[in-house]
Amino acid sequence: MPEASAASAESTLRAAPVPRAAVRRMAPYSPPTGGRAEKLRLDFNENTVGCSPRVIEFLSKRLTASQLSIYPEYTDAIRDLAAFFGVSADEFTLTNGTDEAIQLLVNTYVDDGDDVVLLKPSYAMYRFYAEVAGASIRELEYRRDDLSFPLEELLAALRPETRAVLIANPNNPTGTGIGQEGLRKILEAAPGAAVLIDEAYYEFSGVTALGWLREFTNLFVSRTFSKVYGMAAMRCGCLFSRAENVQWLRKAQSPYSVNMLAAIAARAAVQDREYVANYVAEVLAARTLAYEGLRKLGIKCFPSEANFILFQAGERAIPIRDALRERGVLVRDRSYEIPGCVRVTIGTRAQTGRFLEELERLWTR
Ligand SMILES: Cc1ncc(COP(=O)(O)O)c(C=O)c1O
Repeated sequence: MPEASAASAESTLRAAPVPRAAVRRMAPYSPPTGGRAEKLRLDFNENTVGCSPRVIEFLSKRLTASQLSIYPEYTDAIRDLAAFFGVSADEFTLTNGTDEAIQLLVNTYVDDGDDVVLLKPSYAMYRFYAEVAGASIRELEYRRDDLSFPLEELLAALRPETRAVLIANPNNPTGTGIGQEGLRKILEAAPGAAVLIDEAYYEFSGVTALGWLREFTNLFVSRTFSKVYGMAAMRCGCLFSRAENVQWLRKAQSPYSVNMLAAIAARAAVQDREYVANYVAEVLAARTLAYEGLRKLGIKCFPSEANFILFQAGERAIPIRDALRERGVLVRDRSYEIPGCVRVTIGTRAQTGRFLEELERLWTR
């Protein structure tokens, strides 16, 4: 288009539609940057060696033109996953990652202006979806000295009108968790709220509320295939609750939000229990190595129940993150929410050894 007519087209354009106030108020969200594939990725708490080979084998067998042309059918996946998790088929819904589980819970239970209680710092998507919904958000801080869960503070903050409480157990980025006794107290103290226990790192901590679905009407538990199962790209998770709640969740959910490949992959992933058990054992051994290595360097770190560790690099947090990246090792700066802190994902012992070597070189310079 010639410049003059482009300018006049511009001047006759009407004002664009105005987004909802809740969206206008939100800070822009910056998704992960690209270019991570060839680096040692210790920045997003993924499985650092990838999924079970059986998942790839299963996918390649099932991936036919005919399968791809059909809208997803979840019956087989739901049957197999229900058996694996020890729940019935109507006690969970498949989700497009935990992210959709959070969104679904918020869409189902939280209206504009409703009271939602979160913890800080925690997984960013709780705030994200609560903000999109226009919720009135209250955040309680993890205890500053040891980043432990502020149980008494949370119990005191709950109100009869609280609509949702979103908790990661163990928490990201602190790595700290809350035990079963504390979880029960929260569920008992928030009868009118949907209480989400996000168990994205359950396999590393062993603490779960999943067995209590029949005991608590307000309990929701999420699990993901993005972490220990090594399938973050697939976007697959599960949101569990009592059947009467799951009916409402399914009503508010898009019928095909999980793609068929993800559902197939999840079925295959839970069949290879040995692969997951071996990976967890490797990570726990590597986590011990990481604690020792950090201690030797005189770097303070927080005890973690997950596949990552938060450590204190003080004023060097960002320079260390950048220098590690130059050496091909990605870690995550968290100093914007916990001063001086950097988070490193724990993978294999060899990968942890490489991280420690690089860190030592920089730290002792
Ligand atoms: C606590 C927590 N929940 C959920 C997720 C992401 O889960 P998904 O990939 O299933 O959306 C993360 C990822 O970092 C997390 O830390």
